[in-house]
Amino acid sequence: MKKLTFSAIAALAVAAVIAPAAAQDFPKNNITMVVPFAAGGPTDIVGRIVGEHMSKTLGKPVIIENVVGAGGTTGSIRAMRAQNDGHTIVMGHMGTHAAAPFLYPNLAYKPDADFETIGLAAGTPVLIVTRKDIPAKDLKEFVVWAKEKNDKANMAHAGVGSVSFTTCLLLNSILGTKPTQIPFNGTGPALNALVGSQVDYMCDQVVNLVPHVTGGTIKALAVGTPERNPALPDVPTSKEAGLPAFQAVAWNALFAPKGTPKAVVDKLADALDKALDDPAVRKRLLDLGSDIPDKKGRGPAALTALVKSEMERWAPVLKGTTIN
Ligand code: MLT
Repeated sequence: MKKLTFSAIAALAVAAVIAPAAAQDFPKNNITMVVPFAAGGPTDIVGRIVGEHMSKTLGKPVIIENVVGAGGTTGSIRAMRAQNDGHTIVMGHMGTHAAAPFLYPNLAYKPDADFETIGLAAGTPVLIVTRKDIPAKDLKEFVVWAKEKNDKANMAHAGVGSVSFTTCLLLNSILGTKPTQIPFNGTGPALNALVGSQVDYMCDQVVNLVPHVTGGTIKALAVGTPERNPALPDVPTSKEAGLPAFQAVAWNALFAPKGTPKAVVDKLADALDKALDDPAVRKRLLDLGSDIPDKKGRGPAALTALVKSEMERWAPVLKGTTIN
């Protein structure tokens, strides 16, 4: 076995002391949570709910910074390039940290190499929703309408690589349709357009939709999960509605720039864990239809495994996708 030189042992000893010390006085400043979509959308909603509680645990404000564009990749790049001291994190998701590399061949980051994983915040089932006055009372009638309209139908999304883009790409490939795509900086503004009947439909995460579906300002045709969503028990599953191939669940998770010290990442992961155990936080997330990860689904290792499996899932689906 290679003998360690005295200086190597000394360096290891110093590192062993410095690392926890770096965490001891972390955070020294406010923490910026980059949300790579516009305010009011699902990523922003989840980020603000968990960030508010994390700031109590960490003792410094967690400030949301909405950095929009390019399906969430602009904000993700901003976070990746930030100082890796733990004071900048990003609320990524299935789009930015799993699907995007297969839609942007020259993407400036690799989700599984250029970030430290902190932890999964919420699972977010995806629904097919339409403007309230669309001439289709259910998914079966919508399918007929969408096929008839084809490129005359307007589909909203939050940019190439976003969850709304990616999951509706799946829907359109099942239907064999090529709708006109209307991009927004997030499904917050996209939802406003849908409520105003300026677009016809979109695929969006449940946390953005519950009040609008229950309030009747939009129509929900199906949820892309095997079971109905407890927050929207009257919305059928895609299988019940006659389109079993549309299975679409997204997730929101926190990441830090590569090289953020492990002791600091662990402190952030602990603050996220405490947020997800807080009864008030849990109620807000569950009332919005999200799934809260159990203990074994939380933390850096579980998120590293999720990113790997999700990239493997989306690669074959998205490979060779032409972005019209
Ligand atoms: C998306 O990927 O569609 C985003 O979640 C939309 C958003 O958060 O605004």
